[in-house]
Formats: sequence, structure tokens, C-alpha cells
Amino acid sequence: MPPPLDHQSVLPTESLDLLSLQPGQTYADATAGLGGHAAMAAERVGPSGTIILSDLDASMLERATARVKEAQPGIRVEAIQGSFAGLPAAMVDRGLVADAVLADLGFASPQVDDPGRGFSFKHDGPLDMRLDPTSGTSAAELLATASEAEIAEILWTFGEERGSRRIARKVVASREAQPITTTRALADLVRSCTSGGGIDPATRTFQALRIAVNDELGALSALLGAISAQAESKTIGNAPARDGGGWSEATGSRWLAQGARVAIISFHSLEDRMVKRAFNALADAGAARRLTRKPIVPGEAEMATNRRARSARLRAIELTPITDPSKEGGQPR
Ligand SMILES: C[S@@+](CC[C@H](N)C(=O)[O-])C[C@H]1O[C@@H](n2cnc3c(N)ncnc32)[C@H](O)[C@@H]1O
Repeated sequence: MPPPLDHQSVLPTESLDLLSLQPGQTYADATAGLGGHAAMAAERVGPSGTIILSDLDASMLERATARVKEAQPGIRVEAIQGSFAGLPAAMVDRGLVADAVLADLGFASPQVDDPGRGFSFKHDGPLDMRLDPTSGTSAAELLATASEAEIAEILWTFGEERGSRRIARKVVASREAQPITTTRALADLVRSCTSGGGIDPATRTFQALRIAVNDELGALSALLGAISAQAESKTIGNAPARDGGGWSEATGSRWLAQGARVAIISFHSLEDRMVKRAFNALADAGAARRLTRKPIVPGEAEMATNRRARSARLRAIELTPITDPSKEGGQPR
């Protein structure tokens, strides 16, 4: 029997089916994680395909790379460590052009389950929360340096925490005497000044800090911006100025192929709203076709076996392939 997997991929068949991968194609996984989706993609694109893996967390990237190579021996794998905000530029630099992109947002189970990473209020550990522990500002540093107003704003905006002001006041008062450096210290502080109504009162504060520490919405906004720019630059008469305007191919600056498909799985309403707006704007402009009118959500069976799946929302689009007006019949380029 195979060893149990410590991260169950969410909506695996639904997302891969929407991407409609064909043998020999290039699949880019913006959030490789443990490589569950990517391994399935590798089986679909076959040995002549290419898998691009990106993750902020180098340890995840390593595991995903191994899993993909095991699923499809001999396949070309390009591993790119860093935020997916920088993935389009990194792909352009390497001359990589994807036929399909998946972003399965958030974190993987081994990250949350490792007390040393500081994501969970269920275990005591250093209050870190960085998906890339080698760079950026930890949650402890953020709480030590941000103003009371900034902390309250983070908790309200990213966690919809009604007790945001109360918690921020208490953080600032407590840190004078003792810096808040552990998950237990923060969870106890939050629990002492708010009630959760069913869920642990610390839930929303931890979510908000994780989003802030990793600039999760900023990264998503950058990725959506790059997708939109790529889709719109192929609209006739709207090519980037560096290509001399007009319809000419954006030589050397493509990272998404003609008619590329993009699927995004989000886990909270702030992310889903951003994805929905960006995809709708592209569809309304004729630069993409919506593959999901409403978000796809996991069925009861998946929700019963995978707690993380419960809040998942999957949306997908297909970029509109542009026909070259200079060729008779408008041949796709
Ligand atoms: C839900 S997991 C992906 C699981 C994966 N689809 C699978 O099937 O195993 C999300 C992954 O995205 C990574 N991640 C989150 N935000 C990121 C970002 N801005 N840039 C790159 N990777 C990111 C996390 O480190 C984590 O490994």
C-alpha cells in the first residue's frame, strides 16, 4: 500500500479537466505545494510535456519536483523558487510559455502542521508564518513594530475580526512588557479578549497575520494583473508599446500561449472576489472565455474527507486566441 499523503489536493480532477491538457503541452503550477496537481498534470502532458513548478517554500518545491519526476519519468521540469507574483517574468526570462496555469492558493498541510513554522494556534512554536522562511518579516516582527492602528487594520481587513481594535490595543500594551514571539502567547492573548462563537477565537487573527506576512493579496493581484496583461496584449491594436504597437507578436515577452487556460482555487472571499472580478473583466472585454460561470466547489464526498476543501472555490478562463488579420481567414498565430 502506498504511504499516506500528508496533503490532499483540492478539486484535483475538476481543476485538471478544466485545463484540458494535451500530450506535449506545458503546464505551470504557480503553487506547487506537494505536487499533487502537478503530478496529475505530468501524467496528462506525458513525457514530451513540460512542467513548471513555482513555490515560495523551497522545501515544497523540492518535494513537488520529486513527485512529478516519479509520476512521469523523463519529463522536463523547471523549478522556480519565489512568489508567483514574479513567475511571469521568470518564465519570460527562461523562454517558457505555458498552455495551462493553476494556482491553488494558501498553504499546504505540512506547513501548517509543522509547529516550527508558526502558522497554527493549535501547536506552540515561534510566531513566524512566512511561507519563505528565508526572507521577509515574520509575524512576531510585524507585531513588534506595527502601530496599534496598523495591527487593527490588518485584523479587520484580512480576518474580518470584529474585536480587531481590542486585540490590537492588547498587543501593543503587552509587547511593552514582553514581546509576543510564540503562537501560544498570541493565541492566549486573543482568546483573553474575544470570543469566537464556535470556532477558536484565534482563528481570524492567525488568518489575517498569515495573509499580511506573506502579502497574499498583493501576490494574487500581481498574478491576475500579469494574466490580464497577457490576455489583453493579444487584442488586435492593443499590443504593448515595446513591440511597436499594433498587432505584432509580443516577441520574447509571452508567458501564456495563445488560448492558454488558467484555473485558480481560492479559499476565502477576499481572494475569490479578486479572481472573479479579474476573470469577468477579461470575459467582458472579449479577451477570455469563462470556463466556470459559477465557482466550482467540492462535492460532499471531498468535503467529508478533506477539511481544507470546505471553503474552496475554483474558477477558470481560456484566453481568447487572436487571429492575425493580415492572413486570409485570420489564422491563429
Ligand atoms: C495549497 S498548497 C498547493 C498544493 C498543491 N496544489 C498540491 O496539490 O500539492 C499552496 C502552496 O502555495 C505556496 N504559495 C502560497 N503563496 C505563494 C506565492 N505567493 N507564491 C508562490 N507560492 C506560494 C505555498 O507555499 C504552498 O506550498
